[in-house]
Amino acid sequence: MTLAYDWAGRVGDTWADEWRRTDLSFANLSPHLNAAILNAAPETGIAVDIGCGAGGTAIALAAARPALTVLGIDLSKNLVEAARKRGAAYPNLRFEVGDASELGGITAGLLFSRHGVMFFDDPVAAFSRLRQAATADAHLVFSCFRDVTLNPWVIETGAAVTGATPQKPGTSPGPFAFADAEHVRSILQASGWTGQAQPVDYTYRAGEGEHALDEALALFSRIGPAAARLRELDDAAREVGRQRLRDVLAARLSNDAVDFPASAWIWSCRPA
Ligand SMILES: C[S@@+](CC[C@H](N)C(=O)[O-])C[C@H]1O[C@@H](n2cnc3c(N)ncnc32)[C@H](O)[C@@H]1O
Repeated sequence: MTLAYDWAGRVGDTWADEWRRTDLSFANLSPHLNAAILNAAPETGIAVDIGCGAGGTAIALAAARPALTVLGIDLSKNLVEAARKRGAAYPNLRFEVGDASELGGITAGLLFSRHGVMFFDDPVAAFSRLRQAATADAHLVFSCFRDVTLNPWVIETGAAVTGATPQKPGTSPGPFAFADAEHVRSILQASGWTGQAQPVDYTYRAGEGEHALDEALALFSRIGPAAARLRELDDAAREVGRQRLRDVLAARLSNDAVDFPASAWIWSCRPA
């Protein structure tokens, strides 16, 4: 599980408050990921969404595969509550609070995740556990960010508040822990999986509509590298930092949308 990101506490609660905005940020990636998931999805049996968050990806699969039982698991109670509300119309869908690295008691034909598998303290142990919970012919499909230099929203918003460029993230648990495909390949290999990674460039939409700039500012004031820096400041300095962040976001505003280039991997894996 992840302590650094405190998904069961403050970070998960913030994501639960902000799920509409975080869903929007993934909206241009999801069609690619959902197509890969659907391509791998059995008609029946059990499919598990690892780190399901507010449930958008699990709901899309449950809608497309009515005879498949879809289970979403997340560390955050508030995110699971949000997912349950959103997914209430689907009888083949349920959400549970839990640690996916301790998954047990089920055998799934499909494991999938939108950006929820990069936070395990011990990824080899976690992916081995997932392997044990999968059928011999199961599929594992997940997305994760590619290198931070291909995701300039991190650098631009992170540097906005203090002027200091954020340090390049390594492979410790976090949003960019799986950026290096060779690192992920070695984790998969050590845990009984084999897979291929597809690069997907997409537009990260931070805000849209009449109030796109305010929306983007609201997102990055609570989530991401700028938010972490703003939290460290006193009230006066935070106001200055927010204004600088607003200026950076304004530079990306065009046609009622605040957009950044972004890039992710979509991994499609099978038991080795
Ligand atoms: C970046 S968010 C993505 C959420 C969701 N998949 C989405 O696309 O909106 C990562 C999610 O993984 C969850 N998570 C992290 N580690 C987990 C673990 N060990 N077990 C279950 N969920 C976990 C977090 O609580 C969080 O909801």
